[in-house]
Amino acid sequence: MGSTFMVTSSYRQTYEESLGNPGEFWLNAAAKVSWSAPPRHALDASRAPLYTWFPDGVLNTSYNALDRHVEAGRGDQDALIYDSAMLGTRRRFSYAELTGLVARFAGALRRRGVGKGDRVVIYMPMIPEAAIAMLATARLGAVHSVVFGGFAPKELAARIRDAAPAVVVTASGGIEPTRRIEYLPAVEEALHLAGVPDLPVIVRAREGFAATAADHGWQDWDSEMAAAEPAAPVDVAATDPLYILYTSGTTGTPKGVVRDNGGHAVALTWTMENIYGAGPGDVMWTASDVGWVVGHSYIVYGPLLAGATTVLYEGKPVGTPDAGAFWRVIREHGVNVLFTAPTALRAIRKADPEAALLRDYDMSSLRTLFTAGERLDTDTFHWASRSVGVPVVDHWWQTETGWAICANPRGLEELPIKAGSPSVPMPGFRLSIVDGLGVEVAPGTEGNIVLGLPLPPGTLATLWGNDERYISSYLQAFEGCYATGDSGYRDADGYVFVMGRTDDIINVAGHRLSTGAMEQVIGQHPAVAECAVIGLADPLKGQRPSGYVVLKSGVEVSEDVLAKDLVAMVRRDIGAVADFKHVTVVDALPKTRSGKILRKTMRQIADGEEYTVPSTIEDAGVIDQLIGSLRPGGSGD
Ligand code: COA
Ligand code: AMP
Repeated sequence: MGSTFMVTSSYRQTYEESLGNPGEFWLNAAAKVSWSAPPRHALDASRAPLYTWFPDGVLNTSYNALDRHVEAGRGDQDALIYDSAMLGTRRRFSYAELTGLVARFAGALRRRGVGKGDRVVIYMPMIPEAAIAMLATARLGAVHSVVFGGFAPKELAARIRDAAPAVVVTASGGIEPTRRIEYLPAVEEALHLAGVPDLPVIVRAREGFAATAADHGWQDWDSEMAAAEPAAPVDVAATDPLYILYTSGTTGTPKGVVRDNGGHAVALTWTMENIYGAGPGDVMWTASDVGWVVGHSYIVYGPLLAGATTVLYEGKPVGTPDAGAFWRVIREHGVNVLFTAPTALRAIRKADPEAALLRDYDMSSLRTLFTAGERLDTDTFHWASRSVGVPVVDHWWQTETGWAICANPRGLEELPIKAGSPSVPMPGFRLSIVDGLGVEVAPGTEGNIVLGLPLPPGTLATLWGNDERYISSYLQAFEGCYATGDSGYRDADGYVFVMGRTDDIINVAGHRLSTGAMEQVIGQHPAVAECAVIGLADPLKGQRPSGYVVLKSGVEVSEDVLAKDLVAMVRRDIGAVADFKHVTVVDALPKTRSGKILRKTMRQIADGEEYTVPSTIEDAGVIDQLIGSLRPGGSGD
């Protein structure tokens, strides 16, 4: 980290303060949050390696996101703008109005038995009621778990089983460009699969869907609201959970990342000012989904904690109705900060390579374009910088961390932007790049990216009900560190370059998926002896899953028929979002002598990268046989 601009910069000073005196640094940051009892202590290390922040602080997150701004005289300011490109509708909610709706829905949840610490599963499309349900849950000191609408009933059931909610909140359905997705049959199936068919369900009705709440014996949102008394914010300990968000692990069982109340409010408030440079009166639009961490942090909590206006967009970057949709939303709502995934920019570029549609819109409100979810490839970076004409800032983070590990903190200091890099570590992230033995590698050398413990506020506290899995999944591989599962390198200026995962997680259109989960589904087909799913490079979606299967001996089935079966099974069990569409039958899979499938080598061959075959391979001949299937027309070198 030796270059001059960094030595003198306020970024550098802030970063060093955060590592040198974390207690003071984060207690100062905590002063920007409203507490019922302000914390006097920053960190509780008594259960290390499990750490908690602000152990004696008491607050309510919903109060901080809503009431506080009304009390400060900003009740009339827009809190949330709902823009549905699917329906062609817009609706604005002031802070006062949103606070009223959230308080009332909190009352409705309370009537259905939800209290402090209880869980509420939210399975909703991108409609304002999704954010209202989240904030209402938080208001009661209860814990929400939002499940992305693109997941199939089995995935929803796994989350319901693990979180054991008191209530499920859903809507009639979601709207995709080519079809309407009925949610209610999926919820019904999930409740049965989870063994809780009688769980209370509240349904937000939407026009144009077949099933109604009454058909299932469930409650209607509007009736529940009408019957409810508004509920006041309930005090919780800073260390109490705010939400559980399930994310793909390397096995088929998702991990329930637990976020606390206090650390989350403090960290997100810091990021709004220092990373995004956004505060009261600013409009932030995060074009993601409330089902993902990016949606939790920057569609719902971050902008509202900061007293800014958030845009909740139901639509796609292209096709709703065209590749000018993003530019229209920016102009129409005066967006100052846009946050999206690189895949969305690639989709726009594909449809409108010269960004001709952009010329129809006044984009002067836009200050910065942030991207995350996957690496911002340099081509897309240059195209977006040229087309949009504002700084394009990649930043790197994970469901687990809840906010950026590396970013270019535009509010704090406009550091130079380097194509291909999410810039530098954010406060509290003691980042190192180490080899397999945990030894730090030299600048320019790729290795495992690890973060020294404790992680800063706002990062995961543990995995829901499973401290052991948290420790074994993240904290054991490298002594005293959290393993990010990503590999990368640092350049001589201290800029980090994140190159990819070291495990079996892939990233398809900014969606994090487990190849292990897909293999588990495929392995259930009666014709399949064994299989491997790998993520191949895809020019639009970053990666796409591709399955390689070995048939049981004696089985006669055409590759086409089998492929159709397997594609349908993955869609049924995981969801359309897995985007699993490619299957190849092979004679054998390359394995080590201990039986581990060499997925990385397979991926390197298929993507035409250089590869080395590990010396532990069981039968090197399998690689030669596979090359034709993996890389049509390829040779072995
Ligand atoms: N509910 C139900 N189904 C959904 C869904 C949802 N919320 N979201 C996606 N799907 C379905 C799609 O309809 C599609 O189904 P299909 O196979 O029948 O066509 C499938 O899942 C794959 O969808 P998607 O990945 O969105 O691909 P696409 O080809 O429809 O669109 C992009 C491509 C790039 C436009 C789109 O992926 C996109 O907007 N990506 C941005 C993602 C993002 O913001 N991620 C957040 C990370 S920060
Ligand atoms: P998720 O938990 O769904 O946010 O996915 C997190 C993973 O996505 C990370 O571990 C990375 O592999 C990848 N990722 C997210 N943002 C970036 C980025 N800016 N650059 C590189 N990879 C990223």
